[in-house]
Amino acid sequence: MAGRFSPQFLEDLLARIDIVDLIDSRVSLKASGTNFTACCPFHTEKTPSFTVNRPKQFYHCFGCGVHGDAIAFLMAFERLSFPEAVASLAHSAGVALPDTPPDDPRLAAERRRTQKLFEIQDRAAQFYARQLKSHPHGRRALDYLRQRGISAASIDRFRLGYAPPGWSNLPPEWDQDDLREAGLTIARETSQYDRFRDRIMFPIRDRRGRTIGFGGRVLDDSTPKYLNSPETAMFKKHREVYGLSEALEAQRNPQQFLVVEGYLDVIALAQFGFTSAVATLGTAISEDHISLLFRHADELVFCFDGDAAGIKAAWKAVLATLRILPDGKTTRFLRLPDGHDPDSLVRQEGMETFGNRVAAAPPLSDYFFSELGRTTADLNTIEGRAKLIKIATPLLQGIKPGPFRQMMLGKLGDLTTRKGTSVPTRRWQGRPQRPASSPRPSVLLRMLSLLIAHPRLASLIDEDSQASAAADPRLGRLFTAIMSFLSAHPAAADTDLRAYLLGMPQNALIDELLAQDALVPEGGLEAEFEGSLRRIVAQALDRRHDELIQGSRSRALTQDERTDLRQIDELGRKLLSGGLNAQERAEIRRLIARIDRQI
Ligand code: UTP
Ligand code: MN
Repeated sequence: MAGRFSPQFLEDLLARIDIVDLIDSRVSLKASGTNFTACCPFHTEKTPSFTVNRPKQFYHCFGCGVHGDAIAFLMAFERLSFPEAVASLAHSAGVALPDTPPDDPRLAAERRRTQKLFEIQDRAAQFYARQLKSHPHGRRALDYLRQRGISAASIDRFRLGYAPPGWSNLPPEWDQDDLREAGLTIARETSQYDRFRDRIMFPIRDRRGRTIGFGGRVLDDSTPKYLNSPETAMFKKHREVYGLSEALEAQRNPQQFLVVEGYLDVIALAQFGFTSAVATLGTAISEDHISLLFRHADELVFCFDGDAAGIKAAWKAVLATLRILPDGKTTRFLRLPDGHDPDSLVRQEGMETFGNRVAAAPPLSDYFFSELGRTTADLNTIEGRAKLIKIATPLLQGIKPGPFRQMMLGKLGDLTTRKGTSVPTRRWQGRPQRPASSPRPSVLLRMLSLLIAHPRLASLIDEDSQASAAADPRLGRLFTAIMSFLSAHPAAADTDLRAYLLGMPQNALIDELLAQDALVPEGGLEAEFEGSLRRIVAQALDRRHDELIQGSRSRALTQDERTDLRQIDELGRKLLSGGLNAQERAEIRRLIARIDRQI
């Protein structure tokens, strides 16, 4: 959105306002030399270290380090997005926003409309709150809340209310169009009726505290248990969370948010002192939810039930987080004991024990791999580890490049490579059995999988085999990439090499390669490796041989080509029986260099 405003426009806008006035109207400033000072509104302090500099039109706090211009101040102080802060400044300075002249009648009407809808939602919230205390049936609702252990303070803090039974309790003098558009009533043919009837009302507020919709709960076991406002322009369920405004009222800069499922979970937790819990609005956690919450805190703890639905919901949160996790932010996953939600648990075990659970919740990285290990891949088997690589790789490749991605890929490498005492008990039994239809993996693939598991083997790769492998039409490029990585990182461990491969653009060949098992062969690692190197050279010679034979069908071979053919026969035999001298090796390289490379 920042791109909507030209630098020129922003500069002109900032030139029209005075940051001292702007801040002073919100935080009272005291003149001190050329600066103005106050106790910092962004952290708790007793002596003022927040300063505003008029000539530079800048603020800075020597205590917590926040600083910026008027736009940054409004964003932080009023929790506005960048365009909202610009719009607010432009409004107070009487400056028209680009493309939206104030006399544009359509936009002005739209703005008035939105304003009216905010107003009616707020009036409805007050109306329902009054009914809870004054309507003849309000008593039942209050009793229900009391029986659920909701205190009077919580009722006030969350502005809980009651929609009485009956089809038309909302005041008839209110604007009927507004009511309908706000989702408070439902249209019938010629009239309209109240959407929420005989329900406890939970006003849902945006981060600036404006009511944008409602959740309504029945007082008994009837269904639906919760009814929510329909989606409107101001109420988008995948973008808003319940309790955010209340959480920020309690603590302007919470360290973390606890993301729970239910409205009553948020309220119970707040009542027990855990004020930074928020809930989704009956939908799965979305990327928008996560970004919204990360604007106000550095850590999210997702709290979910131990049942199948809860675990599924948590996994969705994992996937959404992987796609957008910003640098420097963290998420953790708290699984509740079966049959409990945060509301019942905090009441049963108290704040301290519950707090300990939160503190011990595993971070995303651990949760991700343990879930995959638990549900899809048994890490004690080769097949399971191969499967883990197959499933985890595309997910991890979706993470933004950066240290987190590298560490996750490194961890995948660690988990899929056995080390030290945990060398597999199953021994190499020759080639794994494969269905007749699937091609046998090539020698080169086998060689590469051994190399990845044991990068030190690279020292055994001589020039002939290197040239031969590089000439492979399918795996040649990948081989070359691996070799240049290893020559740049001579001390690389297997995990580094895996992380490097996983960091390359998505590639079916890499997946296939990483899914190969690299069991230690019966006859010894080096012997097997050298054997495959020899076979790779032999195969390369075969290819040259085939090319020449192919050529001889359509044309007469040259004298040189005929010599090559004879040499290939001879060298191929010697190669497989061992001993080649230096001159013969050079000859092989010359032959391989002539392979027609159509990679
Ligand atoms: P739960 O059914 O888990 O309820 O719904 P809860 O919060 O524990 O309810 P209480 O404690 O019995 O009051 C969790 C959330 O799912 C949404 C609501 O947002 C609710 O808070 N939900 C649930 C609906 O939107 N509709 C429903 O019918 C049920
Ligand atoms: Mn509950």
